[in-house]
Amino acid sequence: MRTTTARAYPNIALIKYWGKRDESRILPAAGSLSMTLDAFETTTTVVPNPDGDADSLELDGQPADEEQTRRIAAFLDHVRALAGSEQPVIVRSRNSVPTGAGLASSASGFAALATAAASAFELDLDARALSRLARLGSGSACRSVVPGVAVWHAGDDETSCAEPVDAPDMRMVVVTVDRSRKPVSSRAAMRLTAATSPFYEAWVSSTEESLAAMIDACEEGDFTRIGEITESHALRMHALIQSTTPPIRFLRPQSVAIFDAVEKLRENGLEAYSTADAGPNVVVLVRPENAEAVAEALDGLGEIRIVGPGPGAQLLPEGSEVPAAEEGLS
Ligand code: PMV
Repeated sequence: MRTTTARAYPNIALIKYWGKRDESRILPAAGSLSMTLDAFETTTTVVPNPDGDADSLELDGQPADEEQTRRIAAFLDHVRALAGSEQPVIVRSRNSVPTGAGLASSASGFAALATAAASAFELDLDARALSRLARLGSGSACRSVVPGVAVWHAGDDETSCAEPVDAPDMRMVVVTVDRSRKPVSSRAAMRLTAATSPFYEAWVSSTEESLAAMIDACEEGDFTRIGEITESHALRMHALIQSTTPPIRFLRPQSVAIFDAVEKLRENGLEAYSTADAGPNVVVLVRPENAEAVAEALDGLGEIRIVGPGPGAQLLPEGSEVPAAEEGLS
């Protein structure tokens, strides 16, 4: 075993993943498609801990809480099973954005952890196998292993992983309206949706149709069609989530104001399309040449950042370790 460090970036889905067919293997009810970003990265170091009796986890310089530690340890059990090892490890992870704030930190987190841990345990995994492994940590993480636009095939345990898709060059204007941790996790909210929404089956079947149309639009380089499908699919997901018992609403008045502002921009001839994950922050899809103008037009509605397509998960050279909390303070 060896100490390794990896970096991965979050992804924003244009076709959303919402609902599992198999909870334990994290198999999605339908496929999805996203763009891996070039910002908001997570860097994770995995250190062998031969003297420890359990995994230990430090997140942004703080010991992780019980729930986070349990989830990471369960993921590391998959890695150990593949490696035929029982070795506990120390994981130190640093996010460049707050965890759980709806900017897909679980995707960058588990993509970085899968990449670092696979290498720490000296597993020789190709991109598909690494994507499959990341999926076992957090579904959307399988797409962050892949650079740029990625499709995650629903598949079965063997084939459910992400792959690159040809797509036109695009930018996203991220409008952050709230950085606090979301009140309900995606995992719990998905479970409630499948169990209680009367619209769930229609969501699953229509998502497969939207995904097929989206892949066609990407391959044809049809930005308008990509944008239209993106916004419509995001609104369908939020409508679905609001149809649970009890209802869950992730969008805030400020989020809705951004959707309105983007619609206005389109009416005025500036093409832009909104989406939002399981949180109040809105991400606006634009052509590269319109990114600055859209960012300027949305100024005042939240904290604005323009992002583009980013790299897949990657190992960093030796010496790039995330420092331990006490080292970080020295
Ligand atoms: O991978 P999870 O459990 O964090 O779920 C992600 C769900 C959404 O971000 C809302 C949609 C998606 O496809 O990324």
